Amino acid sequence: MAIESGTLPHPFFRPPRDGSVDLIAPRELRRLLDGPSPPYLLDVRSEAERRLAALPDDHHVPLHALPGALGSLPRDRPIVAYDHLGFLARRAVAFLQERGFPLTAALEGGLDEFSRLVDPSLPRYDLDGRGVDVVRRQMPRPDTGCLAYFVGDPNERAGILIDPGHDVAPYLAFLRDGDWHLTAIVETHTHADHLAGHAALHAATDAPIYVSRLSPAAYPHRRLSEGEALDFGGEELAVLETPGHTRDHLTLRVRDTVFTGDTLLLGSCGRTDLGDGSPDLLWESLTDKLLKLPSATEVYPAHYGARHALGDRYVSSIGFERATNEALRQPNRAAFLEYMTEGWPPKPADFDRIVRSNLEG
Ligand SMILES: [Fe+2]
Repeated sequence: MAIESGTLPHPFFRPPRDGSVDLIAPRELRRLLDGPSPPYLLDVRSEAERRLAALPDDHHVPLHALPGALGSLPRDRPIVAYDHLGFLARRAVAFLQERGFPLTAALEGGLDEFSRLVDPSLPRYDLDGRGVDVVRRQMPRPDTGCLAYFVGDPNERAGILIDPGHDVAPYLAFLRDGDWHLTAIVETHTHADHLAGHAALHAATDAPIYVSRLSPAAYPHRRLSEGEALDFGGEELAVLETPGHTRDHLTLRVRDTVFTGDTLLLGSCGRTDLGDGSPDLLWESLTDKLLKLPSATEVYPAHYGARHALGDRYVSSIGFERATNEALRQPNRAAFLEYMTEGWPPKPADFDRIVRSNLEG
């Protein structure tokens, strides 16, 4: 079975080139695993997620290491890639099919569906629980394709919200239900595509709002610079300045995870033609900063491209983006500058009004 994806891309996304991969349903995988020639099971998740639950008799190649591990994979045997919810596995399958592994499919719904429908004995993920090192909760907005994030210390129940959207009710419910104390609200940059929720969230929680030292924000805020860090519980969120999409763009790092805003997206990067963006600065932020991070660093972007697949988590890694991302695969600055000038969707109709509103708070 194949599905279409990417039919309604966010205005910051270039249209996907090929939006379909083969999927296999959990019950069908169970039948094949019980048959005479079971497929090669490939877990593409991080080491940390693998510790939560895994299928028996599988093979582990995290997504960031997949481009360098093709020689170890069978070309004459079906491969079923899996992850938590299905998204990473679909990216892995698209990549493998391009590289000459035609008999590859992704487990639909991931381990989550498999454990719900087929094998209830598999442990369920508890990504917000006290057993994980840091809570990294992705909070999608299906109406705009924007992704907000909560990062929290699961033991001290203290955390930070990154790029909240204007409807703050879901964040407040999440904080209340998890007994979380919000210590800060951070904007990665001045947004041009959606109304931000920092002011409403500040009014409801009293948590201070942090933005780049270069932000033209007119509302009450605190400023962040390269190398600074914000504490939450016993953890910290470190600041990297990554100008390009906008001049005031920050990337935020928590342990082995980077929240890249619109600097680095999955398969592409943020556009630079809204407001004060600069493709030259973006090239430097990508190549001098983000690509210097370890390959296993997980990438959490501020947007996703397809609207149909809510229920997934939209994450990647520096290593996989280095090997597959169109923007990062431009051979030099001149090619990158050309890439940034063609193929982009129309600008959002009211982006300048949105920017003004977001700066006023
Ligand atoms: Fe943006």
